[in-house]
Formats: sequence, structure tokens, C-alpha cells
Amino acid sequence: MQRTQAMTSVQPDWENFHPRPISEKIPYFSRDGRLYDCLFAQQLNRELLEHLFKTATALKAITRKKDGADHVGNLLSDKRAMLYFVQPSTRTFMSFLNACHILGIKTSEIRDTSTSSEVKGETPEDTVRTFSSYVDMIIMRHPAPGFVEKTAWLMNRTGRPVPIVNGGSGKDQHPTQALLDAYTLYRSFDGELDNKHIVMVGDLKRGRTVRSLSYLMKNYKGVSLSFVSPKEFRMETDILDFLKRHNIPFQETEDFKGVMKTADAIYMTRIQDEHDKSGESKAVDYSPFYFKQEHLKLIKKTCVILHPLPRRHEIEVSVDDDPRAVFWRQERNGMWARAALLAYIFGVDGKIK
Ligand code: NCD
Repeated sequence: MQRTQAMTSVQPDWENFHPRPISEKIPYFSRDGRLYDCLFAQQLNRELLEHLFKTATALKAITRKKDGADHVGNLLSDKRAMLYFVQPSTRTFMSFLNACHILGIKTSEIRDTSTSSEVKGETPEDTVRTFSSYVDMIIMRHPAPGFVEKTAWLMNRTGRPVPIVNGGSGKDQHPTQALLDAYTLYRSFDGELDNKHIVMVGDLKRGRTVRSLSYLMKNYKGVSLSFVSPKEFRMETDILDFLKRHNIPFQETEDFKGVMKTADAIYMTRIQDEHDKSGESKAVDYSPFYFKQEHLKLIKKTCVILHPLPRRHEIEVSVDDDPRAVFWRQERNGMWARAALLAYIFGVDGKIK
């Protein structure tokens, strides 16, 4: 991949760079007009999304046969990726790992800072810079919002940058989850994502998945959003301001039953109590924000129910048997959507037909 060295010399200091609007920062994380570091959902435009959806579907079809799997498995056999996941993860980690393997990318991993030199006092910044000496890409999940972006910014100043992919940054962003969520909607609605009413439910204040998915909605026409949450966990104003700027109508409500009837998709989330400062989640009655078996008769025949998982009690387990419950498919779609993204970043997407 050709990198423009000029980019490294013009990049400003982190303190100056970080507070800038995302739209201004996007060019720093692109190369030759293509996305290079995948950090924010705002980087994913409609054209790229459509392309990644088609690539994901093609990958899935091609790899059903051994010949196809061998072809795809050779596309990136010269590449190595590091998975630096220092926050709990099951699906995102496993789906990225297997996405790498589908494309032939060799992988190494750190899942706990106590096994790295960070315990000897090395800064996380130096640690990730060290990884970049050995690999061609770093896929990261980190509890601190902004750290993944800082890593990408730092890499772009070094002589040997590698692309950085955000696998979840604190309570801020989870762009590849938004990618697979949109891919699941795309498959569920036969490719038509315009004119949908999407209902997001739960801890919207601290859930990074609903934040990133809200950003993606700028790409679709006639979308309306309903945010259903306890008053303590309402969607943050930065997202609401973004929606206003993009003329995306939304409402905030606690009346889940009232909005579910007109929903085309219901996106459930769990309470994100790992972000509690002093057990504040315990004081909140979350049960009005559960999807129960009895709700199945209220929603449209075509409505789909999503969840980024893991689930606690937000969706009654008996709901899983209903064909409108697509969250297990959504989980599997993640592997294909992420494989499509990695293929795109390394520029081999054109060979997946
Ligand atoms: C989500 C996350 O980590 O933000 N999980 C995931 O990546 N599938 C949602 C959550 O943990 O609630």
C-alpha cells in the first residue's frame, strides 16, 4: 500500500489534533482516497458501506467451497495482525480473529496488560508502537475513549505506520459493530435501508454501539429514530446534535410499547454498568426496557430485533425462536463484515468476486 509521507510531517500535536471535529480529522486516517485507519463510524459513507456489504456477501458465498476458501485464504497470507484487546470481549475478538484467518492473515494477541511490559512501567503508547514493529495491522479494544484514535495518530507520525482498527473504544465508538449492524439491517431488508423507523433501547448514554449506529444513519434517506431509555441513561447530546445537523428526525421516550408498533428494527442493549462510578445502575428499574415474548404480537411482521450481545435479561430467551429475532445472525455477520473491511484496507477487495 502506498503511503504519502507528506501526511506524517504535517500532522499536528495530539492536544491540538484531538479536539477537532471528526470531519476534519478523517483525511488524516485515509490514504489515496481510501479509509486506512477505521476509527469512527463517521468514516463509513454510503458508497463504502454498500461496497463492504457486497464484499461480505461475496466472501461468505465464495468460501463455501474449498477452492474459494483457498483463494481467499491466500489473499493476505503475507500479512500479520495484532489483536490488542485489553477490555473484555468475546464476539468482537473472535470475529476479528476468524476474519483474519479467512483472509490468511496471521495473528498474535494481547488480552491483558498484566502480561505485557506495561507492568514494567512502559506507556501504552510505547507498547502499541512496539507491536507495530512486528505486524502489518493493529486491531484494538481499549477502555479509554480516544486511545485507539491516539494510537492511529501516533502511528501516522512514525516511519512505519500500520493501519489501526477500532474494536471498541470506551463508551465512545464501536464502528465495526455499526458496520455489521447495518449489514444485518441491509440483509434483513433486502438491501433497502432508506425510510426505516429504528428504535434503540436501553443504556443509550454509555452504549458505544448505539452511538456508532446513530452516526451511520446519516447515510440513509427518510430514516427516523426513537431512543427509548430510562431518564438516567438518555442518549448524549453530541449524538442528538449530530442528528439535528443531518436532519434526521428522532424522539426520546420511556414508552417502549408505544413505539415498538411502528418499528422496522428494534435494537436492544444491556445496561453498561462497568462504567458506573458508584453503583448508580442499581438504582434504575431497567425492566420497562426489556423485550418480552408478549411483545412479539405487537410488532410488525417485518420488524427485526437486533442486539450487539452479550445479553442479560433485555430479551426473553423464548424470543430467539421467532424469525424476527436476528441477533444470532447479526453476530455471525460480524465475521464477514469485518473480513470485508480488512480486505478493503489492504486493497485486495477487488479480488473477491
Ligand atoms: C458490545 C460492546 O462491547 O460495546 N458488545 C460487542 O462488541 N458485541 C455491547 C456490550 O458490551 O453491551
